[in-house]
Amino acid sequence: MINYKILTAGPSITQKEKSYVNDAVTNGWNENWNSYILKLENAFREKFNVKHALLTSSCTGALHMSLRALGVGVDDEVIVPELTWVASASVVNYLRAKPIFVDVDKRTWTMNPKSFEQAITGKTKAVIPVHLYGHPSKMDEIMAIAHKHNIKVLEDAAPAIGATVNGKYAGTFGDVSAFSFQGAKMLVTGEGGIIITNDDDVFANIKQYSEHGRSKDPDNTFWIETIGYKYKMSNIQAALGLAQFERIDELIDKKRLVFSWYEERLGNLPGIALNQEASWAKSIYWMSSILLEDNFKLDRDGLMRALKSDGIDTRPVFPTISKYPMWKSDCINPAAIEISSRSINLPSGHNLTEADIEYVSDSIIKNLGI
Ligand SMILES: Cc1ncc(COP(=O)(O)O)c(C=O)c1O
Repeated sequence: MINYKILTAGPSITQKEKSYVNDAVTNGWNENWNSYILKLENAFREKFNVKHALLTSSCTGALHMSLRALGVGVDDEVIVPELTWVASASVVNYLRAKPIFVDVDKRTWTMNPKSFEQAITGKTKAVIPVHLYGHPSKMDEIMAIAHKHNIKVLEDAAPAIGATVNGKYAGTFGDVSAFSFQGAKMLVTGEGGIIITNDDDVFANIKQYSEHGRSKDPDNTFWIETIGYKYKMSNIQAALGLAQFERIDELIDKKRLVFSWYEERLGNLPGIALNQEASWAKSIYWMSSILLEDNFKLDRDGLMRALKSDGIDTRPVFPTISKYPMWKSDCINPAAIEISSRSINLPSGHNLTEADIEYVSDSIIKNLGI
């Protein structure tokens, strides 16, 4: 038995983060108020080779503004995967549009392109593929369908900074994309997000919404032209984000290492499937996860309780979100139902050691009676 709790997430904070934040707190005011904001936005533009980047207070806010800038409004339909964090769909309701929930692929847990195409109607305005738990959606197929039907694409890349599809970064396929820096994510700023896009007009609108609808004319400082939002990131958070971003390769490598430790121990066990990346994908394994394919002596929730009593924190995979009461949806998405009811996010934080993963794996094997 260990004498500490093994958590599902947890950032890696080094002297670099502390020194950038210290500098921002000390010097990042007055004419330097946005020095780290500009540096971090620029770093994203360069890495993803895009024209525009805007830091935000959350990925949810980023998705909200982006969807509005893509022209989504009252009574439009927006297609979202059944398996995701609620934010991917709530932003549709913020605009008084309607989320349409489609099934996911059994293998990648991300939007099934066929289900997407089947759900398209005359009212479909946009689609939001989600790169769930760090695994990218099948963006080449999703983009081809979206182009064919003239549908805008907003990538919810909240948990997948650095994931790729056939070598191309998730977040660089759609019209607009958003990432999250919330405290459990791959890169953290406490709370925060960023939007990237190559579309000049869409970006100009996003920027205007992000500044309370202020005029696009820089000389017209306090003239407000539309209802906007206050979704800004502070310079101090951006300092933390820049330090994290400069360590991105190291941080992704660690996530992948944690997954490989699980794979070594659980990968060949009967009845357990890891959320392994597809051949065309590079996952950043934000959350290493397992699906219980067989019926063991404990079910998913029983296993979570047993792991908890061994000092191990886990998370259930998201419920099928169409069943939340506010949507009153009667759709049935079988792959999502199976994954949702049988899967667990395992401890995947940056500070875990191989001994921790050994302990978690042994506990899973013991409690399932394998
Ligand atoms: C798939 C997905 N979309 C959106 C979000 C929202 O991100 P934020 O918490 O930065 O608003 C999250 C956060 O967990 C997420 O996992």
